[in-house]
Amino acid sequence: MSVRKIFAVIKKYIPAFIVGIGFSILSFVGLNAAMEPTSTSHYCGSKCHEMQTAYQTWEISVHASGQNGVRIECIDCHLPPKDKFFSHVAAKGYYGAKDVYKHHFGGEYDLEKTRKKVLDSMRDKTCVYCHDNLLAKPGGPAARIAHTASLARPDSPEARCPACHEQTGHQRESKLFSP
Ligand code: HEC
Ligand code: HEC
Ligand code: HEC
Repeated sequence: MSVRKIFAVIKKYIPAFIVGIGFSILSFVGLNAAMEPTSTSHYCGSKCHEMQTAYQTWEISVHASGQNGVRIECIDCHLPPKDKFFSHVAAKGYYGAKDVYKHHFGGEYDLEKTRKKVLDSMRDKTCVYCHDNLLAKPGGPAARIAHTASLARPDSPEARCPACHEQTGHQRESKLFSP
């Protein structure tokens, strides 16, 4: 191919190329705009009645009303971290669509069954993503021994984080909460 022909080809595709780039930027901006309001805990907890128990029990948990005034949101525990942009967006889309489907066609919501399922699928790395310096604050000897064992064998049945901290995201046994 001569140089002139190459230029001709490039020239022919420049408009499509520019449109493509423009479209990508718009999609990215649009996606982020759509992500923002659907990422709040209020949105997650108020959209449908299935989530009401989850929302109320979260509000009184250490992760929403802890002594340090930090709020850990639903998506922090239930989706891959935001800095893993693509898996975060993909999981959000997938679970969002699944929740909508179940809401309309799933029949009666079985809280205990879902709770067990979520509990079993919760991975230690979700917790350790934030609690990444557990042994620096030993708490007490019991916690230190437990945490050393837990960190050595992530997701093992008896030493996984949710095995001991089952109610950490949702305070279910409480006078404040009556289902
Ligand atoms: C996005 C960050 C984040 C994630 C994810 C997270 N935590 Fe936390 N966690 C915190 C913060 C911050 C606090 C302190 C809240 C406060 O006291 O205001 C906390 C508090 C706690 C406490 C209570 C500590 C105390 O002093 O009483 C426990 C136990 C705990 N988390 C365990 C877990 C477990 C188990 C998981 C996984 C299911 C998890 N956390 C997921 C950030 C996180
Ligand atoms: C600190 C991590 C953490 C946070 C923050 C968190 N969850 Fe959970 N969630 C869990 C764990 C662990 C379970 C399984 C154990 C349990 O439910 O007791 C669970 C269970 C659930 C379930 C199934 C049981 C039920 O109550 O219906 C739903 C739905 C749910 N979460 C939604 C939410 C929503 C909505 C928010 C925010 C308003 C939220 N979660 C915040 C960790 C978390
Ligand atoms: C075998 C039980 C057990 C396992 C497994 C376990 N913990 Fe703990 N954890 C404890 C005990 C006991 C304490 C101290 C008493 C308390 O605060 O409830 C504690 C305390 C904590 C605290 C409060 C700060 C501190 O050090 O006292 C955090 C945060 C925490 N655990 C997070 C985790 C995370 C994240 C995992 C998974 C890597 C995990 N725990 C696994 C038993 C356990």
